[in-house]
Amino acid sequence: MERRCSRRGLTIIAITVALPVYMAFAEELPPEILAIKGDVAWGEYLSGECVTCHSAQGAEGGIPRIAGRDTEDIVVAMHAYKQNQRVHPIMQMLAGRLSTEEIAALAAYFNTLD
Ligand code: HEC
Repeated sequence: MERRCSRRGLTIIAITVALPVYMAFAEELPPEILAIKGDVAWGEYLSGECVTCHSAQGAEGGIPRIAGRDTEDIVVAMHAYKQNQRVHPIMQMLAGRLSTEEIAALAAYFNTLD
């Protein structure tokens, strides 16, 4: 009897821990992240390694064009890579190293390009 109770206790603990973690990943990006206003000049400074692939002019060799894209689209894509929800080894590695503010700055910068 005591054993059963403690097993049930463990199940409850497992659910209360696992559920929020699962929900955090399944959720959309929190509005605070989308609300961050990126610094365009900082984004330009950070964009050096991005434009070796995403040329400032646009698409090249199957690499999607990000110049002139909606800021929010870029932020959402970068966080999807960062959280490993979208799979692409290079983009996951790069996005994983960037802070939320750096992603906002990059998105703001690429949005200003034609
Ligand atoms: C080594 C080449 C390379 C570098 C460097 C690179 N990217 Fe990418 N990027 C790609 C490729 C390839 C894809 C498409 C991956 C996929 O299919 O998900 C991509 C996808 C993206 C997307 C999603 C575009 C879409 O249409 O959904 C964004 C946003 C992006 N990159 C931003 C960046 C930023 C910002 C940087 C600099 C921090 C960067 N990339 C650096 C190759 C690169």
